[in-house]
Amino acid sequence: MKKDSNALPKKVLVADWQTLTRTFIRPENDAARATLIKYMEQILFGLHDFLKKHVGFTEEISLKDLADKFTDTLISENPEKKLADVITDLIEVIAPHAVNVASPYFVGHMTSAIPFFMVHLKTIVAALNQNVVKIETSKVVSVIEKQVLAKIHRLIYQKSDAFYQEHIQSTQTTLGCFIENGTLANLTALWVARNSLLAPKNGFEGVEKEGLQAAYRAYGIKRCVVLVSKRGHYSLNKAGGILGIGNQNIIAIDVDKDNKIDLDCLQKTISKINDQGGKTAILAIVGIAGTTETGSVDPLFKLAEICTANNIYFHVDAAWGGPTLMSEKYSRLLAGIELADSVTIDGHKQLYMPMTCGMVYFKNPTIMDAVTYHAPYISRPGSVDLGIKSLSGSREANSLILDSALKIMGSRGYALLIEHGIETAREFAAEIEKRANFQLVTRPQLNILTYRLYPSDLKEKFLKGDIERQITINEKVNTVNHEVQRLQREAGQSFVSRTTLQTEDFPGHDIVVLRCVIMNPMTNIEILRDILDEQEEIYQQAFPRLDPST
Ligand SMILES: Cc1ncc(COP(=O)(O)O)c(C=O)c1O
Repeated sequence: MKKDSNALPKKVLVADWQTLTRTFIRPENDAARATLIKYMEQILFGLHDFLKKHVGFTEEISLKDLADKFTDTLISENPEKKLADVITDLIEVIAPHAVNVASPYFVGHMTSAIPFFMVHLKTIVAALNQNVVKIETSKVVSVIEKQVLAKIHRLIYQKSDAFYQEHIQSTQTTLGCFIENGTLANLTALWVARNSLLAPKNGFEGVEKEGLQAAYRAYGIKRCVVLVSKRGHYSLNKAGGILGIGNQNIIAIDVDKDNKIDLDCLQKTISKINDQGGKTAILAIVGIAGTTETGSVDPLFKLAEICTANNIYFHVDAAWGGPTLMSEKYSRLLAGIELADSVTIDGHKQLYMPMTCGMVYFKNPTIMDAVTYHAPYISRPGSVDLGIKSLSGSREANSLILDSALKIMGSRGYALLIEHGIETAREFAAEIEKRANFQLVTRPQLNILTYRLYPSDLKEKFLKGDIERQITINEKVNTVNHEVQRLQREAGQSFVSRTTLQTEDFPGHDIVVLRCVIMNPMTNIEILRDILDEQEEIYQQAFPRLDPST
């Protein structure tokens, strides 16, 4: 933030070698140590209360006003502040304007509370500062990473003991990789898919080496496409751009009434492409296990059958829903995932890890050979260097956090969290359906649902009205939901998010819906009822005389 012009003049700080080298060893003095202990003690042993006390999601000050305070472009030549002052600023000045994603009333996004031990683990990982790009900067951590990869691979693919014995620590094969987030995990999967499809053959050295133009020439095609439901995450479009296949070639397939990919539409699209005489190649079909907006799970088994029948690469984006596999009760919702060529799972979503941890897993342990890179000083052939098959270079040891978390929680612990989310979402759906002024828009398949405020008088008028009137009413209901969501967020007690969907009730027209993601174990039906009550109250106050006939 900009300096406070009324503050007392402080002792001028000067960068000097002695102080500087001390920062590599220990706090500069007892005052710094006391400040660190004061806050770190709260963070390490009282995270829940610390967040409640220091982090707010109120908008008492607008984002614009905040932005106006951060306009410095000069790095000061000498130190501006001592460590103790910076820490105090972070906690007393900055944190109040951050978002308390740990609040059980914060149910709008896939970011939520994390178990307090995750902060300890993250601190230890930062302290060790291992770089998993190569064995020389990580040693045991690289082999632990391979073990964790095998554990999650087994959760997905359920291969035999012999399979895991062969691959778990193999320097030749890999079961998957850690990467920064789900976006890059999806990109990695499609990178592998692209290179597998446009592999070396007959004097052509492969798309990775020769580029797309040469690859299309060698394979006699004009373009590649990826087929995914229109609920696909936009990271897939980014991948289309980065991989050179063009984001317009990430083709959005219609969804059915449950927001799952429409298999008839998919089949028709495949047939149409096949009828084009081989000029278009289908690079991959992507199934989604937990769509971002509605939490829907595509029919993975059926998608796998279609992929097998047509010899198409099958990727499953389970960034959100993947950990559902740990629940005996609900893993069946993801049936067929074990047939995927690759699977994305995010650790910072339903594995409750700190930001950020993406992962991608491959059924075939040699398929990542298609994206192998070596350098003379690192990632040497035959070494365990994890950078050999990874889009990332330097990378933190997230695997240590996940390995420890799996030990602390057990799959049953994670299952309890998943089950709480799914069952609370179902309870919430039933509550919404009981209320005359609300409408459940998408029923939860996992733990995400959408709904909207839809005052009962407007519902009736909509049903009786002609199309013009229905459009007018729909627009008003959209405005109501847009405004109520904004006002509730600004009031700072609760947060649900907002998106736009089209449904069978009013096909071809956008409806604004409120989106609720239930992953915080402290979120319960009473809290969700409070959220609905508040929304109804905001509506009554903000739209006292809403009449669609005016
Ligand atoms: C289904 C799905 N895939 C991929 C992503 C991208 O993940 P990230 O934000 O970690 O890049 C998301 C994020 O919300 C998602 O919901």
